[in-house]
Amino acid sequence: MESPADGWMVVDGRKVLNFCTNNYLGLANDERLKNAAKDAVERWGVGPAAVRSIAGTQALHVELEQRLAAFKGVEDALYVQSGFCANQAVIPALVGKEDCIFSDALNHASIIDGCRLSRAKTIVFEHGNPDDCERVVAENVKNFRRAMLISDGVFSMDGDIAPLDKYWEVAERHGCITMVDDAHGEGVLGGGRGIVHHFGLQGKFDIEVGTLSKAFGVVGGVVAGKNALSISSAKKRDLFFSRRPQPPRTPPRASPPSTFSKDRANWSNAFGTTRAFLRPVSTISVSKPDFPKRPSSPSCSARRRSRRSSPRSSTPRACSPWRSVSPPFPAARHASAS
Ligand SMILES: Cc1ncc(COP(=O)(O)O)c(C=O)c1O
Repeated sequence: MESPADGWMVVDGRKVLNFCTNNYLGLANDERLKNAAKDAVERWGVGPAAVRSIAGTQALHVELEQRLAAFKGVEDALYVQSGFCANQAVIPALVGKEDCIFSDALNHASIIDGCRLSRAKTIVFEHGNPDDCERVVAENVKNFRRAMLISDGVFSMDGDIAPLDKYWEVAERHGCITMVDDAHGEGVLGGGRGIVHHFGLQGKFDIEVGTLSKAFGVVGGVVAGKNALSISSAKKRDLFFSRRPQPPRTPPRASPPSTFSKDRANWSNAFGTTRAFLRPVSTISVSKPDFPKRPSSPSCSARRRSRRSSPRSSTPRACSPWRSVSPPFPAARHASAS
């Protein structure tokens, strides 16, 4: 990339339309944020020089946490280095060896790693399926000291929204702690305040994890929720053992997150990109790519026919030309990764 992340970008000297960043509201290049970041460097320097529990908690961090808590309408918020770190901080703080976690099958990699770190038993339910969630929770919850139900809010790979209201009902029936990672819902759903507001679950959901690296346009993670439960437990290890991002990367004071909900002009980033794509796309004729061939193997349709006639081969298999070459990535198992 040879330009800032924006709707249009320059990549290897070519101007291209960008569909692959999370700068949903165009804030990564917003003049107000850039100026506030410059001011923050002038006033606070470029690094806190200590972990937060010693001498690294600057007034800037505290103010940001207060604003984030107010924005989410919760008791407290903890600002951490990234969304990834937020899941590592909060999940092991709340559940341990004697506990279990009910986790959507497509939850993000950072949730999965947080679950592993906690040493709680992770039990996966079908993606986006409250009935399966109910079944799995009802069968297992009695065997553990404490249980937590975790889902992504908006699943970034497919863009679908978790049925959070239904998950909350399941959790409520069985006494589970509720947690959602709303990395992709913030700034977009619920008037910008995220999926919990979208479903009217304010005050009911225990923990919201978020990131400032998507719609907020900067870098950092958030744990927001009930103080006694989530925040103070998460603070224990996190505040003692790792420094916060230096102020220039902290969302500047001049840009309270609440500008999201008011400043709908920001939405032009997402919609502008879509329009810029849709307008000319109908006129493009796409030529068939020259995929590598594997002459000795049966064709896709022959394989499909043989599978249909053979009841034993029930496993669905992708019929992609890329199966004939070495895949560039290991096959995805449980997580989406964006
Ligand atoms: C659901 C989800 N959680 C957490 C993260 C990690 O966020 P960050 O980039 O701030 O570490 C991502 C980003 O890819 C995500 O999609």
